[in-house]
Amino acid sequence: MKIFVTGATGFVGRAVSGELQRRGHHVTGLARSRDSAEKLAKTGIGIHTGDISDPATIVPVLNDVDAVVHTAFDHDFSRYADNCAADGRLLEAVVRHLEGTDKILLATSATVVTGDDTVTTEHDVAVDHVPRSASEAFLEFSHRGVRTNIVRLPPTVHGFGDSAFIPAMIAKARESGLSAYMGDGANRWPAVHRMDAARLFCDAVEQARSGVRYHAVAEPGIAFRTIAEAIGEGLGFPVESLSTERAEDHFGWLAMFAGLDNPTSSDWTRETTGWEPREKSLLEDLETGGYFNPPHH
Ligand SMILES: NC(=O)c1ccc[n+]([C@@H]2O[C@H](COP(=O)([O-])OP(=O)(O)OC[C@H]3O[C@@H](n4cnc5c(N)ncnc54)[C@H](OP(=O)(O)O)[C@@H]3O)[C@@H](O)[C@H]2O)c1
Repeated sequence: MKIFVTGATGFVGRAVSGELQRRGHHVTGLARSRDSAEKLAKTGIGIHTGDISDPATIVPVLNDVDAVVHTAFDHDFSRYADNCAADGRLLEAVVRHLEGTDKILLATSATVVTGDDTVTTEHDVAVDHVPRSASEAFLEFSHRGVRTNIVRLPPTVHGFGDSAFIPAMIAKARESGLSAYMGDGANRWPAVHRMDAARLFCDAVEQARSGVRYHAVAEPGIAFRTIAEAIGEGLGFPVESLSTERAEDHFGWLAMFAGLDNPTSSDWTRETTGWEPREKSLLEDLETGGYFNPPHH
């Protein structure tokens, strides 16, 4: 298949693009700068120049491909809600262009979008008051001749090159000299290894369903305290429970995720696609994955 990947220079998108290439697909990646274009050129990926904040720059490539895998996202968390809304607008523009073509549009969302602490399943619909839900609104176009699908990722997608929440937690611990959790730390984070997630994206494209939410979740919920303890151990720092107020100081922008209780199932995904995670668990990765020897690239 000819597949356009946004975010092909990113942590998840690089793994997805590489796996698609290994499976024999022809990949074109989005580059917003010369630097990004050079990175893509080195991996043999075709280049389309554009910017996700300007959908008009993305639309031209859509006529030339069979499928779009959207993993790009602006991770400036000080503008998180705006960035989620912009993601929704981009997806709407893309899906409107693809209407009636029967092409595949697979986008990325997050397991947090159901907004409560019961076990989230693939059947649970995103709720409006969670900003990232904007990334799922385009699913309704599955009835209009586009194979719209979502892969929901857990708050930690871990692995070599991770620059997201776990490195941010490690950095906060280094700054303060302690590895922290909120309250009793029993709140749960689901997790997946980047390469397992990448295989699910590829399976989802190849299986070409429509209107589906997949959960790239290898571990349904690890107590946040356990993660904080592994970080404390890795750094040789004390591990401490913080009140909500102190946690906000300690974690900064990360506080909105640190208290998250987000147990998530991937039973339906596994049964439907045959996908099974096979990489390291989060705790194994924290122990052996080089997280405490930056730069982690
Ligand atoms: N990593 C995680 O733990 C995690 C957890 C939950 C959900 N997710 C979601 O998974 C997806 C992929 O995340 P990631 O970790 O791979 O992110 P990442 O490493 O930060 O990569 C972001 C990608 O988006 C591209 N991008 C950002 N702004 C852009 C713009 N204005 N125009 C064009 N491209 C732009 C970047 O291109 P440049 O190379 O040019 O910067 C890069 O390729 C995102 O939707 C993210 O929210 C990730």
